[in-house]
Parts: sequence; structure tokens; C-alpha cells
Amino acid sequence: MEQTLSIIKPDAVAKNVIGKILTRFEDAGLRIAVTKKIQLSREDAKAFYAVHKDRPFFNDLVEFMISGPVVVSVLEGDNAVAKNRELMGATNPKDAQKGTIRADFAESIDANAVHGSDSLENAKIEIEFFFAQREIV
Ligand code: CMP
Repeated sequence: MEQTLSIIKPDAVAKNVIGKILTRFEDAGLRIAVTKKIQLSREDAKAFYAVHKDRPFFNDLVEFMISGPVVVSVLEGDNAVAKNRELMGATNPKDAQKGTIRADFAESIDANAVHGSDSLENAKIEIEFFFAQREIV
């Protein structure tokens, strides 16, 4: 049993597809251990994406992530990290396979609907960034 972090980004929240995206996780056999809608501060977004701080897209990424509320969730189940990434599709929606979340709901590499942890190790770090252990049922 693994846990992974999912973020439904401001573009998808604005499109009113939170439920549709969460349903995809559940339909694939993942369980939502905890979820919440929050507004990230600039400091939150910079800290969360610190690994990308030297990339040319960093400032745009931070501005986008604070442009509206996001929904952060802990998903759990067998192979949760890989399963979530498979459901999301490629980072750039133009490359995402048909039927994936990004192919169906995302517009661009910046406004790409969802984020998901890329490894079990990062999942632990990202979950701890947003949730206290006692919040995760
Ligand atoms: P995400 O999975 O949230 O991780 C970092 C984000 O940076 C990524 O999704 C994209 O939304 C955004 N991004 C913008 N440009 C690029 C790029 N060239 N390569 C990777 N990620 C990018």
C-alpha cells in the first residue's frame, strides 16, 4: 500500500472539474485518504517547487500556482505513485495519451490540471508539506 500526493491545479479548479478528477482516482482503485481546497501563498508555492528554482519556468509556475485555489489530496492504494502518474498523463497535455486527466482537462504545460508525486520518496516529502500525520485517516 502506497500513498502519493495529488494537486488539482488552479486551472482545473476554475473549470469546476474537481469531482470529475477525484472520481478518476477512485474509479482506478485509489482511495482519498484526505483532501482539502487551499489558496497557496507565494512562499508556499516557491517552497513546494524549490527543486525547480533554477529552471526558466519557475516564476511562471509559482505565479500560476497562486492564481487561484488548489485541491491537495493524499491518494492511497497499490502502486499509488505510478497509478496516479498514469492517470495524469504526460506533463505537457499535447503529449498526454487520450483518456488521461491532462489530455481531457489541461490546456498547456503550465496550466496542466494536476500535479502528482514522481517517486515514493518525494511523495512522503510532499505529503508532509501539506498535511499533519493526524489529518491522514
Ligand atoms: P508539475 O508536475 O506540477 O511539476 C512542475 C511543473 O512545472 C509541471 O507540472 C508543469 O506544469 C510546469 N512546467 C512548465 N514548463 C515546464 C517544462 N519545460 N518542463 C517541466 N515542467 C514544466
